Amino acid sequence: MTRKILVTSALTYANGPIHLGHMLEYIQTDIWHRFQNLIGNQCIYIGGDDAHGTAIMLRAEKEGITPETLIARTLSEHQKDLCGFLINCDNYYSTHTEENHQLAINIYEKLQAHGDIKVKTIKQAFDIEKQIFLPDRFIKGECPRCGAADQYGDNCEVCGATYSPTELRNPRSVLSNTTPIEKESEHYFFRLTHYTEFLQQWSQSDALQPEIRNKLNEWFKMGLQDWDISRDAPYFGFEIPGAPGKYFYVWLDAPIGYMASFKNLCTRRDDLDFDEFWRRDSQTELHHFVGKDIMYFHSLFWPAMLQSANYRIPTAIHTHGFVTVDGQKMSKSRGTFIKAQTYLSHLAAEYLRYYYATKLGDNLEDIDLNWRDFRLRINADLIGKYINIASRCAGFINKKFAGMLGQSLELPTLFQEFSNAADTIAAYYERREFGRAMREIMQLANQANQYIAQQEPWVIAKDETQLPRVQAVCTMGLNLFRLLTIYLKPVLPELATKVEAFFDIAPLTWQDHQHALLNHKIKKFKPLMQRIDEEQLLALKTATENESY
Ligand code: MSP
Ligand code: ZN
Repeated sequence: MTRKILVTSALTYANGPIHLGHMLEYIQTDIWHRFQNLIGNQCIYIGGDDAHGTAIMLRAEKEGITPETLIARTLSEHQKDLCGFLINCDNYYSTHTEENHQLAINIYEKLQAHGDIKVKTIKQAFDIEKQIFLPDRFIKGECPRCGAADQYGDNCEVCGATYSPTELRNPRSVLSNTTPIEKESEHYFFRLTHYTEFLQQWSQSDALQPEIRNKLNEWFKMGLQDWDISRDAPYFGFEIPGAPGKYFYVWLDAPIGYMASFKNLCTRRDDLDFDEFWRRDSQTELHHFVGKDIMYFHSLFWPAMLQSANYRIPTAIHTHGFVTVDGQKMSKSRGTFIKAQTYLSHLAAEYLRYYYATKLGDNLEDIDLNWRDFRLRINADLIGKYINIASRCAGFINKKFAGMLGQSLELPTLFQEFSNAADTIAAYYERREFGRAMREIMQLANQANQYIAQQEPWVIAKDETQLPRVQAVCTMGLNLFRLLTIYLKPVLPELATKVEAFFDIAPLTWQDHQHALLNHKIKKFKPLMQRIDEEQLLALKTATENESY
């Protein structure tokens, strides 16, 4: 049966460029999404920008533009970056839209009707000069534990302590450098505590990875807390109905942005029905791909909100680790904060897609982008193993047989072995074990190369009487190459398109692994991918170090 699946990547903040850390998630989601469609499921992929919050408001102010101008500019930059990396989103939208406004209000009203909203007065740091309440990140001071200077209001980067901004010594506002005062204000809370039992059940389901399940159990032990969902003006976001001067906290309407992006897509696609995907008893699947820093929002608040508002809950949350560059956290000062655009002006998107694929599993481990290893992997695997199969065989077929593939396979058992691997590889893709899938595929590539090396078509081609065997061997080699192309297609879609053009065939589907391509005229072989050389990596490094933000 065809499954109907909706997948998402986290919505990127609209105040900065997309970098290679974000790209891990987009590539992971895109591979899974392309795989699902390739095997014949209906999989819709939505994403977008997260356009609200204090940081975006202040960033716009600093640039002397309106937040609307900032988020519109960022949106088109982000869309361009994703296109460059072959991310095949069905819709890339924004949270600052009419659809999201309507949905946020609608959901809030349902939470309220359900008795899940309460109002409470709290004290918060306030900047008198700027007349604004200060989020933790906008207060700096000395760490209450180790005394380190210049630490943020939520945690110390030197000793790792976490605390509230009121505990900082000599606190000051990052905006005005004045000392913040404490000021009272009414806040709106979502009563997460009403959903403790529901969340305990959800955490035992298959929706979460074991590491996340354990984390949730720790939180349950400490006891859940109600969640502060309002912010006072000035704030860039949606005003709360019936509460003038109060706005939804960015994290309330951000995940609703997934629904809004899908709703917007539905207006253009007659075959999609919003309710079919979002109603409580939906038979479709909903998968969210997120980084480990935001799993709290996706594994607690979001399912509880959906439950309260009587929508379906996610089928699964797939959490990944963080990208490090040469073993270190990405950092602007170390020149390892690589923007998507900077990468793309020096290297091809598919290198990174393949590299990340080799490193991805269904777990939260961090993923190191090591440039030496990167170059070796691409050159050895993609060019040295996979493409090598075609470049060793294609020339003979083109020159000696006018492009005609032979009538039969020289070694059907080997072809059968390649074909049988489809199920194993598909199971790895399905379980998001892309690293295992890539190893399996490269193992097959090794076998194909061994076969060609043993047959030595370049030797037998010298003897005119042996020509039929040359054709048979090269037909065999190209057929193995064709199956590997199918298996790599979710990761390397552009390369697959070039291979389809070379074979002069319709777009490959997963089922095409079941038959061989025989007695068929192919086109002239052109180089499919360039090797990476040291110079390109050096150029990227230099460009990154000279970047301004
Ligand atoms: N706007 C929120 C998400 C709202 S979802 C309803 C947000 N945005 S973000 O731009 O900071 O991050 C977007 C995604 O990129 C997150 O899943 C985050 O974990 C991921 N990554 C950001 N930096 C990353 C790395 N260095 N490595 C891997 N993923 C990273 O959070
Ligand atoms: Zn400290």
